[in-house]
Amino acid sequence: MDKNISIAIDGPAAAGKSTVAKKVAAILNFTYIDTGAMYRAFTWAVLERGLDPQDEKASCSIIPDVTMDLLEDGRVFCNGQDVTRAIREPRVSGNVSYIASYKDIRLALVDLQRAMAASKSVVMDGRDIGTYVLPNAEVKIFQIASVECRAKRRYDENVLKGIPTSYEDVVEDVKKRDYIDSHRAFAPLKPAEDSVELATSPLGIDEVVDAILKIVHEKTGLEIPCH
Ligand code: DC
Repeated sequence: MDKNISIAIDGPAAAGKSTVAKKVAAILNFTYIDTGAMYRAFTWAVLERGLDPQDEKASCSIIPDVTMDLLEDGRVFCNGQDVTRAIREPRVSGNVSYIASYKDIRLALVDLQRAMAASKSVVMDGRDIGTYVLPNAEVKIFQIASVECRAKRRYDENVLKGIPTSYEDVVEDVKKRDYIDSHRAFAPLKPAEDSVELATSPLGIDEVVDAILKIVHEKTGLEIPCH
């Protein structure tokens, strides 16, 4: 491959973006970057310090102290600690939208995201990848699914991971995050004008993966490996 290729996958919470993005990245041998994990790790760091995530000034004050590493095997490290599991817990999920609405934190994390995409081919998932982080991405996908379908997916994931939650709480959390994510002033959740909208249902993951691979081939000429 002569040139690095970027694939942006955006959409609301629990629309199946990370499952799809990981599969696409594995098939193409690209690096998968979960930007939501970065906002979650920052939220974890704020809570660890005993700060209030709804306090913008206090949360932003730790920007210079927070370090973050996303490993190729999917583990996430923050300030030297493995936070892979902790960042999926309800205390983080319930607060991450506040952290993600603070401009200074976004600017710091967007710098890291752009640096990661500069040197290699990536599949990056998030909310503002096609609109703000990588506006020149070769492929932009906006993935959608109903609130119920997304809440069911997140609830099942939590059960599998042994994270205690009720389905009703997950529905409320998904709705709350949709609202905050799409109403924030800076880089809100919205489809890029040149994105392709794809709907996922729990059974539709492989169809979405194939649709994305087809778009990648059409837009870049890249031959898709057998999978
Ligand atoms: O995808 P996720 O649920 O792990 O994302 C966690 C939160 O981070 C979510 O509330 C939206 C926010 N986020 C964001 O604002 N921008 C991104 N690029 C990725 C996630």
